[in-house]
Amino acid sequence: MDKANLPTFSVLPRHVGIIMDGNGRWAKKRGLPRYKGHVEGAKTFRKIGEFAGDLGIQYLTFYAFSTENWSRPPEEVAAIMDLFRDYLRELDERKAENEEKGIKVHFLGDRHGIPKDIQRMMGYSERITRKKHHVILNIAINYGGRQEILHGVQALAHEVEKGKLRAKDITEQMISDHLYTASMPDPDLIIRPSGEYRLSNFLLWQSAYAELWFSDVLWPDFTEEDFVEALRAYEHRNRRFGGV
Ligand code: FPP
Repeated sequence: MDKANLPTFSVLPRHVGIIMDGNGRWAKKRGLPRYKGHVEGAKTFRKIGEFAGDLGIQYLTFYAFSTENWSRPPEEVAAIMDLFRDYLRELDERKAENEEKGIKVHFLGDRHGIPKDIQRMMGYSERITRKKHHVILNIAINYGGRQEILHGVQALAHEVEKGKLRAKDITEQMISDHLYTASMPDPDLIIRPSGEYRLSNFLLWQSAYAELWFSDVLWPDFTEEDFVEALRAYEHRNRRFGGV
């Protein structure tokens, strides 16, 4: 989309979460191996990430790999890991450009299960992009919403065990502060393409009041126009947060 003619919105979500789904089906439809769908999906990730930043969305969270995705065939998992490596290398190569744009990268998920070289590159990417932050780009890798809540609750239970906290004093805010998204606003809008209508363990705690938007388009085919359509739908939603 032409950068000089970007669409404008009466209200823009501060935080958008995206479940990148449908890569496998996209490849299957074309008689290609599944990993080719992920290769195309990674291109869409770059395109939509950049576009959302240009539109002024401050927080973006992409679901790239769930704690359940390890059960896929090893060659598919290896291909996805290679796509992460490519992207992390690119972040280093484009350091200056990303700094200019004020993009700060942050990873959500349990890093322990991830190959060591990727863990190191993730830490490095977070350090080199930490200075300015007009756009926070969260990438969820080895992420599971229930696991995230469980880890947070365990950390709080530990405080209780040590006598530093009383169970009855635990607040919702304390749980939020123990999640990977601590200090970030909750997602206002969650987008799921590919014709599936569920959250699949994505940002479970944080999405309590999120608007949900679904589309039949498979993620590799997802366009900037589709993203605009989701934002237009959001513009017309009436968020009451449980009030009237
Ligand atoms: C779900 O589609 C997609 C994934 C499990 C992987 C998503 C990963 C990428 C798009 C690569 C991201 C790359 C970077 C650099 C962050 P699916 O395979 O479950 O699709 P299906 O439901 O059609 O089988």
